[in-house]
Amino acid sequence: MKRHKTIIPLSHDHHVMLKMAQGIKKNSIKTDLGTSSISNKVKSVIHAYNTELLPHFNHEETILFPLAKGKDANLDILISEIIDEHDKIGEAIAKIEEGNQEQNLDDLGFLLELHIRKEEREVFSKIEEILGDELNIIDGQIYAVTDSCGI
Ligand SMILES: [Fe+2]
Ligand SMILES: [Fe+2]
Repeated sequence: MKRHKTIIPLSHDHHVMLKMAQGIKKNSIKTDLGTSSISNKVKSVIHAYNTELLPHFNHEETILFPLAKGKDANLDILISEIIDEHDKIGEAIAKIEEGNQEQNLDDLGFLLELHIRKEEREVFSKIEEILGDELNIIDGQIYAVTDSCGI
């Protein structure tokens, strides 16, 4: 589906983040990250969380969602679920730093992948359907944060 131009930078981020999510799962060998050591994966993921995931979540929570909230009951529920998931992803990152890294990376990979697919397939589609050209109000405020990603 063709995204509204305002949301395209977020979809660009999703594309990069999805590769990371797939690369940190136990059985993944498809990406550069997938073939690196567990300790390198941990370093890459924590770096990506601080420099890319957090700013990306911030764009969603402070620019896109405030414009979308209060217009549709189902969309409001989806948005609150998504914000909860952002917190869960943060908790999963903290868990990786504590130990049992291979399993915790795997868990994060699944969590992140589900989150991104839900945003792309359900949330963004619904936002476009309900807001339409109202999205132009925030045009130019959201930019892709994953360009320097290296994953
Ligand atoms: Fe998100
Ligand atoms: Fe997102």
